[in-house]
Amino acid sequence: MNEPLPRGSETSLVLTHLTQPADANYMGNIHGGIIMKLIDEAAGACAFRFCRTTIVTAAIDRIDFHHPVRVGNLVRFMANVNFAGTKSVEVGVRVEAEDLMTGITTHTNSAYLVFVALSDSGKPIPVPKLVPQTDQQKEWFTEAQERRRKRLAEREPAD
Ligand SMILES: CC(C)(COP(=O)(O)OP(=O)(O)OC[C@H]1O[C@@H](n2cnc3c(N)ncnc32)[C@H](O)[C@@H]1OP(=O)(O)O)[C@@H](O)C(=O)NCCC(=O)NCCS
Repeated sequence: MNEPLPRGSETSLVLTHLTQPADANYMGNIHGGIIMKLIDEAAGACAFRFCRTTIVTAAIDRIDFHHPVRVGNLVRFMANVNFAGTKSVEVGVRVEAEDLMTGITTHTNSAYLVFVALSDSGKPIPVPKLVPQTDQQKEWFTEAQERRRKRLAEREPAD
């Protein structure tokens, strides 16, 4: 057994799913809703692991489907905490589908999701700080800041 990890120390994960006939739509491709659920699952696990508190999905940016995912493809959902605000984090997910027969990997989707950390009583609470280290992380951080600016400007007030 290892020691508990500090909050904010884990910023990425990969969730892998081997697609089955039960995941398919009537055309024989994987149903878009299955992909969306797995994007939310991978991103949610990534945010949860970073925050080490309960989190909820607050927003999902548009999801484009660049290519179909076929039955039998091994699909990887690569999730990364791009930005941490005060009480929310943005997680980016890149989805790739691998044809196990040929090894050809296709980038099928990308999505950005926002999660809010909650206390035991369900109130938003602070998230750990994210200090980007590599050039790639710094680029993701800056891009996420711009998306956050737009998102918050367009945010609709709750009823
Ligand atoms: C998400 C939720 C907790 C936000 O509650 P709230 O009282 O409006 O939150 P606040 O205004 O205090 O904002 C808290 C944080 O959430 C962010 N946030 C809230 N709504 C957001 C939205 N629609 N888009 C992006 N960020 C959002 C705020 O920017 C803030 O983050 P910051 O401190 O880093 O800037 C609340 O709307 C909720 O519970 N929604 C339902 C969530 C749900 O059921 N999800 C699906 C299943 S998990």
